[in-house]
Amino acid sequence: MNTDEKQPGAPSPAANAQQRAAPLPAANAQQRAAMLRVDQAGEFGATRIYAGQLAVMGQRSDEARAITRMAEQEARHRAIFDRMMTQRGVRPTALQPLWNVAGFALGAATALIGPKAAMACTVAIETEIDRHYGEQLDQLGDGDPELSATIGEFRAEEVEHRETALAAGAEQAPAYALLSGAIRLGCRIAIRLSRNI
Ligand SMILES: [Fe+2]
Ligand SMILES: [Fe+2]
Repeated sequence: MNTDEKQPGAPSPAANAQQRAAPLPAANAQQRAAMLRVDQAGEFGATRIYAGQLAVMGQRSDEARAITRMAEQEARHRAIFDRMMTQRGVRPTALQPLWNVAGFALGAATALIGPKAAMACTVAIETEIDRHYGEQLDQLGDGDPELSATIGEFRAEEVEHRETALAAGAEQAPAYALLSGAIRLGCRIAIRLSRNI
């Protein structure tokens, strides 16, 4: 008799082994709380970057109008993550005061270089956020449909922001590669810090 044969109603040994060997189990509650924390921090940071840019650029140019539209979407992203954190009892990052100042400073500094540098900042940030949200969606699997749907929707808008900024000439910013590399590195560090602090 073949002892490996599946009993009616019992999971097959192969299925059991597959479950044990699954490389990425769906994120647990603690991991999902950390995701919400870092995402809220990121959206908050985005509102502060755009606030810094608009403080320098004013409201009148085409670039400023595009930034105002993006900033409105970031404010909505932030508000929705704020609400989800309250509902789920997730605390915000303790680094919020730092992102408040650092975000505004980054926005103001890039806008002082010029409108194209301001756009280069958006391209750099959104490139990292697109990757970050994509990783989170992979980690979530189908374990948290509400969070996945929210992240998926915001991710699509972040990609639009990147396209808007590229169309506005981001890549013609002075020292584009250096500027972009530095901002992307800073963004990755901020993501890592905000997850757990
Ligand atoms: Fe956003
Ligand atoms: Fe964005």
